[in-house]
Amino acid sequence: MSNYHIKTVEEYHQAYRRSVQDPESFWGEIARENFVWQKPWDTVLNWDFTKPEVSWFEGAQLNITENCIDRHLPTRGDKTAILFEPNDPSEAAQKITYREMYARVCQFANVLRDMEVQKGDRVCIYLPMIPELAISVLACARIGAIHSVVFAGFSATALSTRINDCDCKMVITSDGSFRGNKTIDLKGIVDEALENCDGVEKVLVAKRVHSEVTMKEGRDHWLQPLLDVASEDCIPEVMNAEDPLFILYTSGSTGMPKGMVHSTAGYMVYTAYTFKNVFQYEEEDIYWCTADIGWITGHSYIVYGPLANGATTVIFEGVPTYPDWGRFWQIVEKHKITQFYTAPTAIRALAKQDIGFVEKYDLSSLKVLGTVGEPINEEAWHWYDDNIGKGNSPIVDTWWQTETGGIMISPIPFVTPTIPTFATLPLPGIQPCLMDESGNELTATRASGRLCIKFPWPAMARTIWGNHQRYKNTYFSIFDNKYFTGDGALRDNTGNYRITGRVDDVIIVSGHNLGTAPIEDAVDEHPAVAESAIVGFPHDVKGNALYGYVILKEMGESRDHTNLRKEINQLITERIGPIAKLDKIQFTSGLPKTRSGKIMRRILRKIAAGDSENLGDISTLLNPEVVADIKKNVI
Ligand code: PRX
Repeated sequence: MSNYHIKTVEEYHQAYRRSVQDPESFWGEIARENFVWQKPWDTVLNWDFTKPEVSWFEGAQLNITENCIDRHLPTRGDKTAILFEPNDPSEAAQKITYREMYARVCQFANVLRDMEVQKGDRVCIYLPMIPELAISVLACARIGAIHSVVFAGFSATALSTRINDCDCKMVITSDGSFRGNKTIDLKGIVDEALENCDGVEKVLVAKRVHSEVTMKEGRDHWLQPLLDVASEDCIPEVMNAEDPLFILYTSGSTGMPKGMVHSTAGYMVYTAYTFKNVFQYEEEDIYWCTADIGWITGHSYIVYGPLANGATTVIFEGVPTYPDWGRFWQIVEKHKITQFYTAPTAIRALAKQDIGFVEKYDLSSLKVLGTVGEPINEEAWHWYDDNIGKGNSPIVDTWWQTETGGIMISPIPFVTPTIPTFATLPLPGIQPCLMDESGNELTATRASGRLCIKFPWPAMARTIWGNHQRYKNTYFSIFDNKYFTGDGALRDNTGNYRITGRVDDVIIVSGHNLGTAPIEDAVDEHPAVAESAIVGFPHDVKGNALYGYVILKEMGESRDHTNLRKEINQLITERIGPIAKLDKIQFTSGLPKTRSGKIMRRILRKIAAGDSENLGDISTLLNPEVVADIKKNVI
């Protein structure tokens, strides 16, 4: 365990230096000493960012579930692996030990094998936050099937797009899900999605809400009876280091969502190593990340990273508002949570409530607080620090992405300093740099530019499913020989990074990445709409909210615009999901365009943000006259 756990600032600097000077020996040692391999690697790293091609631990063989479960059985068999906290606080929490996880994952894996799911097949998982979600993810990994988890808040259209893109042959879902006082008909959404998915042969259905659902003969099967008769042992598939482990979709600034492909060995090593250090996890800790497993945060820091360390990881089914705004803190007290990891949008929403919701509960078990998903503003940072951490629990502001697989820039609590609104220092192995718009690296320590990464790290996504060219164009073509993150950042004179936000047309709403193009496509589908442009504007809880400028085919007075706004949002909900709904919709006669016909989003963004006095030079626009009209009618 020599260089696995960083405990002092000297160890951090030493590890960082070594990871840059000799990355192969650095990662080789971590991988060799802290994981089980069926066969060791031939080379630690091969890479070429011009293609781009990256492989870690080439030649090695392993199964990630042996590292997440089997190897813990002799020492941690009776330790809780998953602590499930249901939506309804009066329903008992469930503790699933490592031994039980082994049996349940094996049974599930055997069911998949019986259904002829084979190594390399894609399986879509569309489940609420119940233990079956983590178990099905691991069951896929056990037999080498590639899981593609789709967040269960996505609509039928979004689901079918993702199922078809990677050609899933199976969908795992449930009869429904509980969210606060609502019940959502997940099976109905799957049925609707599958009307457009010919490749899906089987659907496995877990029972959660016990509602009536339609089961399609031959295709749909209840999960439990199959599990009941399945063996509790399942020989793990032998995986090559670079075999894909999963696909996870993320929005791009244009077009289809991108199916980011993560591979097995590098992802395992990196998520385990970063989990241990960023959360300073100790054997008796109870760790809780509030994300959904449908996002990368849940994959890396609810399932794989924690389990690879033999940790106890909480799965929470519900929402922060149910039965009231004290729910998170009630859970912290109830389970004596030691590490708590959430999103700035949740912190901002919680901070707006009566402080009595916090004060009611004993939060003294907390040691480390974390945030992820978007920049955290100073006020929210201090509220979190003062009221939740009581000034004693360092806040790890972790910057990373679906594409990076694991945390890249973050404080290490009790080791490196925290600074409000700064993600601070790169973790060992991460070589960030800042670039100017003409492609030059900014070499001064204090600088502000586009954030790139110069050198491969083990958990980076290897490609976009079915579209390597897009992977190359999006991430490796903008700056030569560097991975471009899409974010802007500032570096202070001691080398700490502050992420300033996206520099492309991706908008982060409540921590969810949304591309403007697919939302505009949904709006444009409305028969009354001629054209639309969507931009983000600052929102005090969501971080950003969406503002739509919509040109109608006929701008007549007779149309009821309230209804039209509802219909447009309904369409967005159907095509993408409720997270992409527009907060404001302004009907307009035109959109500001350049002479080549490109919408000048910069102007629209400023107007939506209430900053319409400083629009800069608009005289070069094709139609400068529309700007006055838009300003006049701003909402
Ligand atoms: O803009 C950055 C922002 O979230 C983007 C990645 O989103 P996603 O792939 O959904 O992954 C989110 C969870 C890892 C980044 O490009 N972001 C993420 N973390 C931070 C952040 N922005 C500022 N500070 C952060 N800590």
